[in-house]
Amino acid sequence: MGDGHEFETDPDELPTAEVAPPQRFLDQANVTETGIRERFRAQWPDAWDEAGERLAWTSKYDSVYDEATRSWFPGGQLNAAANCLDRHLADRKHQRALVWDGQRGETRTYTYLELFREVNEFAAALREIGVGQGDVVTLHMPAIPELPIAMLACARIGAPHAVVYTGFSADALARRMDRSDSSYLVVSDGYYRRGDAVSLTNKAETVRATLSADVTTVVVDRFGESHEYATDVGKYNYRTLLDRNEGERVEPVDRASTDELFVIYTSGTTGTPKRVTHTTGGYLAHTAWTSHAVLDLEPGDTYFCTADLGWITGHSYVVYGPLALGATVLLREGEADQPPRTNVWELIEHHAVDIFYTSPTAIRAFMKWGPEYPEQYDLSSLRLLGTVGEPINPQSWQWLSEHVGNETCPIVDTWWQTETGGHLITTLPGVDRMKPGAVGPPLPGIDVTVVDEDGQSVDANTGGYLVVDTPWPGMPRELSEGVRWAAPDDARPDSEWAYRTGDGAFVDEDGYVTILGRVDDVLNVSGRRFGTRELESTAVTVDGVTEAAVVSGAYGDRGHGLYVYVSLEDGTQESERIRAEVTAAIEQTIGTFARPDAVIVSPELPKTSSGKIVRRLLTDIANGESLGDTSALRNPEVLGEIRSAVQQD
Ligand code: PRX
Repeated sequence: MGDGHEFETDPDELPTAEVAPPQRFLDQANVTETGIRERFRAQWPDAWDEAGERLAWTSKYDSVYDEATRSWFPGGQLNAAANCLDRHLADRKHQRALVWDGQRGETRTYTYLELFREVNEFAAALREIGVGQGDVVTLHMPAIPELPIAMLACARIGAPHAVVYTGFSADALARRMDRSDSSYLVVSDGYYRRGDAVSLTNKAETVRATLSADVTTVVVDRFGESHEYATDVGKYNYRTLLDRNEGERVEPVDRASTDELFVIYTSGTTGTPKRVTHTTGGYLAHTAWTSHAVLDLEPGDTYFCTADLGWITGHSYVVYGPLALGATVLLREGEADQPPRTNVWELIEHHAVDIFYTSPTAIRAFMKWGPEYPEQYDLSSLRLLGTVGEPINPQSWQWLSEHVGNETCPIVDTWWQTETGGHLITTLPGVDRMKPGAVGPPLPGIDVTVVDEDGQSVDANTGGYLVVDTPWPGMPRELSEGVRWAAPDDARPDSEWAYRTGDGAFVDEDGYVTILGRVDDVLNVSGRRFGTRELESTAVTVDGVTEAAVVSGAYGDRGHGLYVYVSLEDGTQESERIRAEVTAAIEQTIGTFARPDAVIVSPELPKTSSGKIVRRLLTDIANGESLGDTSALRNPEVLGEIRSAVQQD
């Protein structure tokens, strides 16, 4: 941030009209208290008790928040799996907990009782193979029922899970396991990606060979063939283990509120992935309360979120929040913007989905495919729509409201991050008017400020850095422990708690926040998060590459793409080889999901007189925009060459 960020706003993307929530929705909304923000402000932090109260505690907490240790619900004891399963058995044991829609057209359904049984059996199996309380278990699977089952089985025995998205490479998986000292891996034999079968067993083998510690592996059959691993040392088959533990019950282990529930890695501003540790009590209270207040979820609702379980949305709003509330969760394997184009709508009609939570990237694909797909189906069961992951522009918002919500569903545009665990900024659908394009005011109990370079708050409607000023229940352990996760030039004294989000934003006169995108070394490309340093340091490992700069720019159907610009050593002529090798290096070090959309080779990258690469110009070139005044550059002559290289790509 040192040189200051230019906060650009595109007039087409700015919030315009205000939309009132439909009466039909208000008549039944979970939260309709207009003074809720004032009440939370007056009674902070105790007002958050209503989040804690949504959970079942084996020992009640001493207080809601302890300032000295920055901990939520200190003294409380609970088990997350018992909250998601056991406590629902009395009232809803025959209600569907999980309905799975597989890529091959398969459907599998688990009632709460069936899910409870399988989680118990797998928890017993994990114990059998040696997993103890506190051991980190790495999970590497697509969205199949065994993944939430394994997550809950880990939670049941107090073993933090670490789900690693299937698009990560063997190297990336091994690095994450190593960082967490994780020596248990539950992995599927493979997964289907856009119809193709992708094997994961080789990846698991590579990981075993790479890590110095012995890795105990459990393989889940996704391909339906019977792989008998049970005879090999340290390798087990999921089915065989379950059969051996049929009918077993495992007492849920009491966990302190502040004990870790899971770890998740995300992209940060350094060259290595950022480890985020979520707690059992605060995180679960936050996700359960926001599922209730923001997603308006009620026990027994059928709920559909298109996020992959490998990312935080899948953790908070596919598994923990909805199951803690006793909903029926629809789990779909594959990405929402993946054909068949009718599938998402067919599922909503068939299962009479009440609440649909998706991403702007998926909505852009739906818009491109056309309204004739949703229009073939009866979507009238829908009550509320939600989006997350990147800004949704007013046009996409309108399209969603009209063609999916039939203009009778409120839309919550929820701003949050891997680090926040759950929603922090969004309208409350039963309380607030919506402004398409703006995420909304902060939730009750949350204060945010937009500041300038010096940490001073800026005027309304002026862009700046988005800072969260109040701790929240879903905050990760790292923030409680005093890790600042702030920009290096944060002007605030250490004593003043603040979380710098890395996003740019402005706040209007009504207190509504509009997100302007990342302003740190993290890129958001169609809702996927990447660290520029991680990508750039990988690109420069290729022979002949001297420097690399990575930006997000307009690209293809998803809206944005990953552009990698590299400069070459003098005399290097082999652009084709370099492009292929840069792509291969990124796929190997990070994974296929980070494959660049364009690798642009040029003799030099544009630099300021002090030698800093000007990424803004590279973004403008990727977007095909005019560059304005470039006279302050040390080497303006390279721009034309770079532009023609982009056009040829
Ligand atoms: O830039 C913001 C964007 O996604 C970033 C967080 O990414 P990640 O940790 O992967 O979590 C995504 C799912 C919670 C944020 O820093 N972002 C998230 N939600 C929104 C958003 N940008 C605009 N509007 C949103 N609703």
